[in-house]
Amino acid sequence: MTASIIDGKAIAAEVRREVASRVEGLRARGVVPGLAAVLVGDDPASKIYVDGKERDCREVGIHSERLNLPGDIPEADLLAEVRRLNDDPAIDGILVQLPVPPQIDVLALHEAISPDKDVDGLSPVSVGRMVRGEPSFLPCTPLGVVEMLVRSGIEIEHREVVIVGRGNLVGMPLAIMLSQKAPNANATVTLCHTGTRDLGEHTRRAEILVVAAGRPGTVTADMVRPGAAVVDVAVNRLDSGKLVGDVDFEGVAEVAGAITPVPGGVGPMTRAMLLVNTLKAAERRLAPATSATPA
Ligand code: GUN
Repeated sequence: MTASIIDGKAIAAEVRREVASRVEGLRARGVVPGLAAVLVGDDPASKIYVDGKERDCREVGIHSERLNLPGDIPEADLLAEVRRLNDDPAIDGILVQLPVPPQIDVLALHEAISPDKDVDGLSPVSVGRMVRGEPSFLPCTPLGVVEMLVRSGIEIEHREVVIVGRGNLVGMPLAIMLSQKAPNANATVTLCHTGTRDLGEHTRRAEILVVAAGRPGTVTADMVRPGAAVVDVAVNRLDSGKLVGDVDFEGVAEVAGAITPVPGGVGPMTRAMLLVNTLKAAERRLAPATSATPA
């Protein structure tokens, strides 16, 4: 194998240590950051994710509240819960784990979350601010991808970035973020998707290749430029129970310069960035005039 491994687990642990230290500073000034995690229904994977978020909060000193709501909850009742959390002074950030059951309109849900508490960065107001390049909460997975590249010493500015997958949670926001004229961005971004005619033609140009398609085997070694940094965002469970990403790890690791593993790559970074966003939301209690976006 030629590629170095980008160890998301270790980088996320470093981020958590930094968050813990800043939380301690806030607590010393009488501010206890609080996150509300809302789980609707009993999807086992979602439960595992929310359990993990609660564990992370405990580790770094963030107060967390968990709401387990029935899978058949009417939309109006869920929105009422969200509005109650909007008004709760002990809560700085609200996260409703996705996916939600079909009777819930995701747009209505995200519109109900106060933009000041939208630590998931998925509400229309947050997305609009992000597109305009204004301070906003940024969605945790693309933020985690950027953070792990930066902390691994991988330059982003002026480089060719190819993203595979245009979903609202990862590909689309990441394309917007990396296109901004801003530090740790300012890249030339190509966003590929199911309408792309020849995927390999694009991916072979990438100095940084981010794959978030949700389909195992989407990227193979012949589709990767030698020396490229390859970030595999997806987590797919095979029939055997094994977790794999979208990238053929063994093959691509022979060609790439750096690669993220699955699991232990982007996943832990997503969780760590939720803590960062919650910390920032809480810091605004002391300096409410400043923006939600991190220094
Ligand atoms: N489910 C998968 N990814 C996410 C995410 O980033 N936020 C929320 N709320 N749910 C998710």
